[in-house]
Amino acid sequence: MLKVGVIGLGTVSPIHLFSINNSPYARLVAVCDIDKEKAISKCQKIKCEITPCYEDYKEMLDKEDLDVVHICLPHYLHAEVAKYALAKGVNVFCEKPVDVSYEKTKDLYDFYQAYKDRQKLGICFQNRYNKTVVKLKELIEKNKEEVFGVKGLVTWYRNMDYYKQAPWRGTLKEAGAGVIINQAIHTLDLMAFVTGKDWKSLTATMTKLMNKEVEVEDTANAFIEYEDGVNGLFIATNAYSITDSIELQVISQKEKYTIKDNRLYNKALECLAEDDKSDATKDYYGAGHEKLINKFYKAIIDDTDDYCDLASAMETMQIIQAIINSSKTNKEVKKEEIIND
Ligand SMILES: NC(=O)c1ccc[n+]([C@@H]2O[C@H](COP(=O)([O-])OP(=O)(O)OC[C@H]3O[C@@H](n4cnc5c(N)ncnc54)[C@H](O)[C@@H]3O)[C@@H](O)[C@H]2O)c1
Repeated sequence: MLKVGVIGLGTVSPIHLFSINNSPYARLVAVCDIDKEKAISKCQKIKCEITPCYEDYKEMLDKEDLDVVHICLPHYLHAEVAKYALAKGVNVFCEKPVDVSYEKTKDLYDFYQAYKDRQKLGICFQNRYNKTVVKLKELIEKNKEEVFGVKGLVTWYRNMDYYKQAPWRGTLKEAGAGVIINQAIHTLDLMAFVTGKDWKSLTATMTKLMNKEVEVEDTANAFIEYEDGVNGLFIATNAYSITDSIELQVISQKEKYTIKDNRLYNKALECLAEDDKSDATKDYYGAGHEKLINKFYKAIIDDTDDYCDLASAMETMQIIQAIINSSKTNKEVKKEEIIND
C-alpha cells in the first residue's frame, strides 16, 4: 500500500481524502494545512482517521516516509512544494494548474527532468477520464474523423463570496488569472485532448464583467488555431447566474459531437455516453478524481506512464499564458513566442 500525504485541506480536499480512503492501492498517513482546525474538521467530515496533522509541509515531508503527496494548495505554491517533495524522493500528485504562469511551469518541468526516471509527477485534469470524454476521443480516433472545429463553452457563477472565502483566488500573484486558470482550464485542456491537436497560435480577450473588486478576469474568449487546420472557439465566464454544465463540441467532415449536461450526443442527437456521478464531490468537478488518482497510484506501482503527467499538461499551460499575453497586447500570439519567451 502506498503511503500518502495531503497538503492543503481546503475546498477541493474532500474528494482527494475520499479517493485515498477508498483506494485499494493507498492509505492516508499524514495531512498538512496552516489551518490545523480546518484540516482536522475536513478529515472528520470524510470520516478518515486523523493522521498526524502538520502545519508545515517541509516538516511533514522531512519526518514522514511518504510514497505520494497530493498538493491541494493555492496555485502559487504548487511548483515550490512539488520541488521540495521530489527532492525528498516522493511522487507528486498536483492539483491543476501546474502553477501561476508558464514560466513557473517550465521551471518545474526542467527541475523534474532529474527525477523523472525514479518518480512520477501527476497533474489533476480529472475530466480527461469522464466517460463522455473517453468515448469522444475514442470515436475520433477509431473513425479517423477529419476534425476541423472544436468549441469549449463555460458559463459558471462565482460571486464575491467565492473570493472572500479564499482571497488568493482573486489575486494575479497567487492565482495567476481567474476563469481561465481556475475554472475553464479543464475545458481548454479537453479541447486539445479530444482532438489530439497541438495549438499553433491564438487571439484572446479577458475582461471583468461582474466581480470588479478582484484583480483576476471573470470572462475570456479565444480563437485558437490548432495544427492540421483545426479552429477552436473558447468562451468562458464566471458571470452567469448558475454554474451550468460545460459544453464541448467537435465538428468533423462527417459528424458533430456535443458533450452537454454530462452526456455525449452525435448530430442525430443520439446519446452515445453518459458520465458517472459521484456523491463525494461537487457535480461540476465531475467524477474523474477517483479514477485519475487510482490510475496515478497504479502507474507508480506498475512503473508505467499511463497517467496524466506534467509533460501532457504543458500545452494547456502554454495556451493559458498565450491568452494572458494576447489579451494584454491585443495581438495574436504564436506558440514559439511562449516557448521561447
Ligand atoms: N480539479 C478540480 O476540479 C479542482 C476543483 C477545485 C479546486 N481545484 C484546485 O485545488 C487547489 C486548491 O483549491 P481550493 O479551492 O481547495 O483552495 P482553498 O483556498 O479552499 O484551500 C487551500 C488550502 O491550503 C491551505 N494552505 C495555504 N497555504 C498553505 C501552506 N503554505 N501550507 C499548508 N497549507 C496551506 C489553506 O489553509 C487552505 O486550507 C487549487 O489549485 C485549485 O485550482 C481543483
